[in-house]
Amino acid sequence: MAMTTKSKQYIDLEEKYGAHNYHPLPIVLSRGKGCYMWDVDGKKYFDFLSAYSAVNQGHCHPKIVAALQTQAETLCLTSRAFYNDALGPYEEFMHDYFGYDKILPMNSGAEAVETAFKLTRKWGYLKKGIPENEAIIIACSGNFHGRTISIVSLSTDDDARAEYGPYTPGITVIPYNDVDTLSALLEEKAASIAGFLVEPIQGEAGVKVPDVGYLKSCYQLCKAHNVLFVADEIQTGIARTGRLLCCDHEDVRPDILILGKALSGGVLPVSAVLADDEIMLTIKPGQHGSTFGGFPLACKVAIAALEVVKEERLAENADRLGKIFRQEMTAIKSPYIKQVRGKGLLNAMEITPHERKDAWDLCLKMAEKGLLAKPTHGDIIRFAPPLVITEEELMEAICIIKESIETL
Ligand SMILES: Cc1ncc(COP(=O)(O)O)c(C=O)c1O
Repeated sequence: MAMTTKSKQYIDLEEKYGAHNYHPLPIVLSRGKGCYMWDVDGKKYFDFLSAYSAVNQGHCHPKIVAALQTQAETLCLTSRAFYNDALGPYEEFMHDYFGYDKILPMNSGAEAVETAFKLTRKWGYLKKGIPENEAIIIACSGNFHGRTISIVSLSTDDDARAEYGPYTPGITVIPYNDVDTLSALLEEKAASIAGFLVEPIQGEAGVKVPDVGYLKSCYQLCKAHNVLFVADEIQTGIARTGRLLCCDHEDVRPDILILGKALSGGVLPVSAVLADDEIMLTIKPGQHGSTFGGFPLACKVAIAALEVVKEERLAENADRLGKIFRQEMTAIKSPYIKQVRGKGLLNAMEITPHERKDAWDLCLKMAEKGLLAKPTHGDIIRFAPPLVITEEELMEAICIIKESIETL
């Protein structure tokens, strides 16, 4: 794909002055609206990544941007040293929206996962009675929960983990989508296990969808052994998979629910941990926090972002269009396509390299034709457009994907 002089200038700047911790496609974006983005040369693309599902409500949603602007001119940050008139109403809104007693607001997804980790341990010691320093948290192989030291301590991905040791103790990793191993571990060690941390679909691993009933079985096992079921819905939550939460597909109500990304519609880093009093009130004043966590700007933006999800029926749209997308993709006959899978508008295509062309080449070809997606784990391409996409737009995007595969 030919790179323009203008694009190259920006890429060179990042190369020279930025840490080399990402490997982006050579596209330089400067504007977004709904399910579209434009590059610095004015070329228009369908966004089929949605900033890893942060932009479910579409780029620069007018209602969310208006909430941001109004609050930015009023009061941005107070810290939690004082009360403010945005946080309480936001907390009440979140209670009504998700049905948990309390929220602990944070900023990035990783911070929310760390918070859930700490909360799980606190509950383990104070409520379950696990002897000090013996609490175990179970995680699943192939997980992605963020980038902090404790989180990479859970990781089974060498890129995420290598040379960052020594790692946080008190973690046991078991295979994903394996109820029997969880059951055996709980039978053996339940007395010291505080929680089971799981992604309802593993997004970063390449949209790994577990068997139907997996979440429900794991939840029931956790209940039977007095272990917290902790769901990381940072990527799967907020309408992405065709329900408000991915756990809703199996009528599972996590003990601790972790949200991020689309909680702000991609406007600000806003994350949250939700739980009932028995769990949440184990953390006392001074024991956890963040300067920005729950700042007035975030509160107003998150309320607007979540209102948009309901007003525009984004879960219903994701559910309906997701079925069409998978139907169209599975109908393509191509030696490149190994498998298509997903739920709602969180989908992936597993690519078999063919005639020396792989998933990266296909992403470049799609970009050339006006659609942006990115490979994960080498040969898997995730397709996750903003949930405001219409059927007509989706069909247009599907044509681009088909043509790209045909002409690769
Ligand atoms: C499931 C899941 N958890 C946690 C994170 C980390 O979020 P952040 O990058 O905002 O720290 C991500 C990000 O991709 C994620 O997909």
